[in-house]
Amino acid sequence: MKQRAYNFNAGPSALPLAVLEKAQKEFVDFQGTGMSVMELSHRSAAYEEVHNQAIARLRSLLSIPDQYEVLFLQGGASLQFSMIPMNFLNSGQKAGYITTGSWSEKAFKEAELFGEPYHIASSKENHYRDIPALSELSFNEQDAYVHLTSNNTIYGTQWKEFPSTGNIPLMADMSSDILSRPIDISQFGLIYAGAQKNLGPAGVTVVIIHKDLLEKANSEVPTMLKYSTHAKTNSLFHTPPTFGIYMLGEVLRWVEEQGGLEVITQKNEEKAKVIYDTIDQSDGFYYGHAEKDSRSLMNITFRLHNENLEKKFLAEAKEAGFVGLNGHRSVGGCRASAYNAVPREACEALSEFMVEFQRKNS
Ligand SMILES: Cc1ncc(COP(=O)(O)O)c(C=O)c1O
Repeated sequence: MKQRAYNFNAGPSALPLAVLEKAQKEFVDFQGTGMSVMELSHRSAAYEEVHNQAIARLRSLLSIPDQYEVLFLQGGASLQFSMIPMNFLNSGQKAGYITTGSWSEKAFKEAELFGEPYHIASSKENHYRDIPALSELSFNEQDAYVHLTSNNTIYGTQWKEFPSTGNIPLMADMSSDILSRPIDISQFGLIYAGAQKNLGPAGVTVVIIHKDLLEKANSEVPTMLKYSTHAKTNSLFHTPPTFGIYMLGEVLRWVEEQGGLEVITQKNEEKAKVIYDTIDQSDGFYYGHAEKDSRSLMNITFRLHNENLEKKFLAEAKEAGFVGLNGHRSVGGCRASAYNAVPREACEALSEFMVEFQRKNS
């Protein structure tokens, strides 16, 4: 078999090899059923076990309190940009958005269709290089909610701690760093994440929602777009993305086997450090996009001063077997996404490649 690629894709992204191999083994005959997981009825006992185990594992790994529901939805994180205001923001009502990148701007835009979102803080003027200081933020008790993006996949910044919003529900897009570190779920009203980075393949969107919010939601919402529809039916109101949920469950099992979130966090810190140190020790040959105290452990964004050299770097890196190092098409530059399943060896190999490229080109 060809060696596994050094996969630094931003999402869909690397999955743990052990999970892929287990899925491969079970692909045609899942646990003696004579069927693939994909061929099971979503109403069967065998599938229900897969579904409920995935929920239980996520609850346990993220220490999700009983007052929260875990939902498996479709439509990606992007549909959540609309579902949140559709359910919780009425015409004339305000919601505070902290915009730290393109994804939060997109979420803001959707909210404009329903009510009156406004910027509590934005890092736009600083080219989205930083996360606002908690001390700069103030909240208005009348607002329907506050929205933020915990990790900015495109610009490579990440919240280190989250603001306390008191009685105002805090809604967070955690698509690109969920399950990368422990979080205090009780700070949030709702957390959402597309699965295709740390959780599994694309197709499932995880929502963790406080039960009180289900009661408060707008009732004039199409059935499929109401959180309560899915909460009441254990996310089995309609056919869920069964294979994606099975894969999610296996990724969660893998995280448990790694030692849980503390161990994963430590590994993520070490992996990111390998690459950030290479950038910082390059005498400016490479320079990071994010300010140091806002750096993401998941998406490491950097540039080379000379654009032609940057093109050469990306071309040679590709040639050397590194995948996905191009920055997002909207900003250019380079980006290494070191999600949970990216092994430390891949980061070390990239670091060595960067050092060698610098030696040859300076
Ligand atoms: C932080 C963040 N939010 C939202 C999205 C959009 O997710 P989806 O493609 O699942 O709609 C992405 C995708 O990369 C993302 O990184």
